[in-house]
Amino acid sequence: MKKLDKYGLCKEEYTDNNLIANVYYKRAIGKMPEMESSKALSKIVKKYLKENDRIADVGCACGHYYYSLKKIIKKNFFYTGLDPYDVFLNKAKIAWKNDKKAKFVKGNILNIPLPKKNFDIVYASNVLIHIHKSDRAIKELMKITKKYLIIRTVVYDVSYKVQLVYNNKWWKYTDIKPVNEFDKNGNPRSFSYFNILSFDYIKETVKSINKKAKVSFIKDNFYSKSKIHKSIKKEKRPLATRIIGKEQFSGALMQPHYFVIIKL
Ligand SMILES: C[S@@+](CC[C@H](N)C(=O)[O-])C[C@H]1O[C@@H](n2cnc3c(N)ncnc32)[C@H](O)[C@@H]1O
Repeated sequence: MKKLDKYGLCKEEYTDNNLIANVYYKRAIGKMPEMESSKALSKIVKKYLKENDRIADVGCACGHYYYSLKKIIKKNFFYTGLDPYDVFLNKAKIAWKNDKKAKFVKGNILNIPLPKKNFDIVYASNVLIHIHKSDRAIKELMKITKKYLIIRTVVYDVSYKVQLVYNNKWWKYTDIKPVNEFDKNGNPRSFSYFNILSFDYIKETVKSINKKAKVSFIKDNFYSKSKIHKSIKKEKRPLATRIIGKEQFSGALMQPHYFVIIKL
């Protein structure tokens, strides 16, 4: 039996994951340093944002990227965060309870419950990596975007469909023993996708949805190696990002992260 939930993720990865939720919550209230990727993404958003624009953050967790946006953007804007998991949303609502310009909605990237063409800027950071149906996710994101869609994900010359396989020796949220990692057909029982999408796949998928859309890629080289390594120690999270040479790694996987900019 596969252990994927209705959002296509490993059942144990996020559903009750208070460890990760606490890290995101502390970032959202400024009690832990911002992520390097959230600072980098905020700078890109700042470039495109106009007074009174509406922003959607798909896969927002606790709204910790909103903290970075507010820190560097002085124009007025309205923020909507979307996530399927209550473990994150409940904390997001506490973190931002006094902020009238922020709201949080429960929903799935594969069927986004937000109005069409409603947001000037939409972004999804570190979400597509885990989603089985990337084309469907891109289509849904484009559906709600008016001007700019920014996707931060792992991109390379060719695509790889990678499954990270859990067992209870290193991942306390699963009950699968190492000996049972794979079922009798050789498929993992408890896993998350760690997709790498090719430049060509992304470009052609976007074009197949909207011929006029323009796609560009910005390599995420904006991180500070020492800050990332400091944060690994604080977070105590298995497989937290680390830097080898100039590349980001999670466990054994090299993860060349890009900001994919889609102009509609
Ligand atoms: C690795 S976290 C990234 C959180 C944040 N965007 C960041 O970059 O730090 C992935 C996020 O995507 C959310 N997510 C997972 N499956 C999703 C789905 N089907 N639709 C929307 N969000 C999803 C998770 O709940 C989680 O908040």
